[in-house]
Amino acid sequence: MKILITCKLPDQLLLPLKEKYEIVMAETENEPMSRKRLLSEIEEADGLFTNVADTIDEEVFDRAKHLKVVSTMAVGYDNIDLEAAKERGILVGHTPGVLTEATADLTFALLMATGRRLLEGMDVIREDQWKSWGPFFLTGQEIYGKTIGIIGMGRIGLGVAKRAKGFSMDILYHNRSRKEEAEVELGARYVEFDELLEQADYVVLLAPSTKETYHMMGAAQFNKMKESAVFINTSRGPNVDEDALYEALQSNQIWAAGLDVFQTEPIDAKHKLLTLKNVTALPHIGSAAIETRMNMARLAINNLVNGLEGNALVHQVK
Ligand code: DGY
Repeated sequence: MKILITCKLPDQLLLPLKEKYEIVMAETENEPMSRKRLLSEIEEADGLFTNVADTIDEEVFDRAKHLKVVSTMAVGYDNIDLEAAKERGILVGHTPGVLTEATADLTFALLMATGRRLLEGMDVIREDQWKSWGPFFLTGQEIYGKTIGIIGMGRIGLGVAKRAKGFSMDILYHNRSRKEEAEVELGARYVEFDELLEQADYVVLLAPSTKETYHMMGAAQFNKMKESAVFINTSRGPNVDEDALYEALQSNQIWAAGLDVFQTEPIDAKHKLLTLKNVTALPHIGSAAIETRMNMARLAINNLVNGLEGNALVHQVK
C-alpha cells in the first residue's frame, strides 16, 4: 500500500512505516508539497498524511482511486472536506489532546507578549532606538489580576484558564455548553458573548472554524470591547474579520491584538495588519514545541496505520 505524506517527517518516524508501505513524501523542510504534486500522487495513494497547510477538498478526493484514510497532524480539520470524505467512505483522523498544553502555553505567552509589548521592545533595541529609561516608555497593560474572557472552552480553553488562574485573573468564558470543570475548579464564570466582550481586559478566541464561527469577531464585536482591551487569536483566521480588526486597532478602539493565525496563511508580509505597532503576529506556531510535534506526528501515524489495517482510528473525526 502507498502512503502519501505532504510534509517532510524525520527518519525515526518513517523507518517502521518504510518496512511495510511505499512512502511518497515532500522533500523540503517546512514547505508543503505542491498542490500539483499532491493531486497527482493522491491517485494511487491508500493513505494520506496531511496537515493544516493543505486543502483536502473534493478535487483531491475525486482524484484518489484507492484512498482509505486521511490523517491530519492537527486537532483542527477545517481544511478537510468531511462530507466528501464521508460520501466516499474515507476515514479522517486528527490529533486532539497531545497539543493542548503547548497551545495553551503559546496562547498565554502571546497574551503576555502583546499586553506588555515584548516584541516592540526588541524592535526598539534592534533599531537602536533605546535612548534611556522613560517613565512611560513602552508601557503596556497589566496582566495579573485582570479579567480574561475565553471564547471556546474546549481542552485548550481550559488550559488557558488554568494559566490565567495562576495570574489571579477573573475568568469569564463563553461556549456552546457550560463547562463544570472550569467553573468548579477554576472559578470561571459563564457569560453571554456580548458580556464577555464588554468586560474582558483580554479576549481570547479559541473557537473552531466552522460555518457558524466565520467572522464571529467583526466590527460589532470589536465595538463592544474596552479601549484598553487586548484581543488574542490562536484558533483559526477565518473566525475574524481582518478588515474590521484592522479598523479597530488603527482607530484605537481596542488596544492591541496578538495573532497566531490568519485568514490566508502564510500572511503576506505586506498585509496591512502587519503595519500596525499594536499587532503581535506569529506564524501559526501554537503547537510548535518539539515533544508536542513529535507526539502529534506519532498519533497521526497511528491513526493512518490503524485505518489502513482496518482497525479503529485512535481519534477519528466523526
Ligand atoms: C491544530 O492542530 O489544529 C493547529 O492549528 C496546528 O497545530
